[in-house]
Amino acid sequence: MTGRSAIAGIGLLALLLAASPGTVHAEYGDVVLNKRSEKEGVRPVIFPHWFHRIRFRCKVCHFELGFEMRAGANDVKMLDMVEGKFCGMCHNGTVAWDMQRCDLCHVGRPGLAAGVVGGNQTSGPGRW
Ligand code: HEC
Ligand code: HEC
Ligand code: HEC
Repeated sequence: MTGRSAIAGIGLLALLLAASPGTVHAEYGDVVLNKRSEKEGVRPVIFPHWFHRIRFRCKVCHFELGFEMRAGANDVKMLDMVEGKFCGMCHNGTVAWDMQRCDLCHVGRPGLAAGVVGGNQTSGPGRW
């Protein structure tokens, strides 16, 4: 990703968010990733865990892609994703829409802390 497209992306994001105030929020069991996002001027990322869990086996992400099974445990960087790591393994325009769709991931309300949203946690291996 070039600096220019990143800036264009943020502009687009701001427009989209301005157009739909309050309509996007974390749902039951979603995971907020916000280690760097807000510090770097974009909204926190909301990862719909359930949506992905029903489509992929746990080990695809938690073993093969190396996502630690603990909210906030991962150091996910945009550059790594553009190179096909983490979310970028699938969000590459082939398996799923690509990394240019900033507006689909950076949708959290400003101020959301990293963690599980919705008062319930995944009852997966981490808790068995
Ligand atoms: C598939 C989901 C996804 C898409 C699409 C996406 N991001 Fe991200 N982005 C993330 C995740 C996950 C993080 C790490 C979140 C954290 O810990 O703060 C992140 C982090 C960031 C950061 C923090 C600094 C860094 O480099 O990691 C910036 C800035 C950023 N994204 C901008 C963008 C822009 C601009 C776009 C569109 C061109 C975009 N993102 C598209 C998921 C996405
Ligand atoms: C598409 C990728 C993906 C799949 C598939 C997936 N996860 Fe996750 N999971 C993640 C990400 C990303 C996080 C958040 C990590 C972070 O915040 O740094 C996470 C977080 C978690 C957590 C900690 C948060 C919580 O809700 O307690 C647990 C436990 C977990 N996953 C279990 C599972 C289990 C069990 C499965 C299979 C039924 C599964 N995951 C499938 C990507 C995935
Ligand atoms: C193992 C593959 C895989 C990984 C890894 C993955 N995704 Fe996805 N994701 C998908 C697929 C497939 C879809 C559905 C795309 C579609 O509907 O066209 C999707 C859809 C989504 C959606 C839209 C959900 C909805 O309700 O329509 C969001 C938001 C999203 N992903 C964010 C992320 C973030 C953030 C990460 C990294 C933390 C991530 N994804 C990692 C495969 C993946």
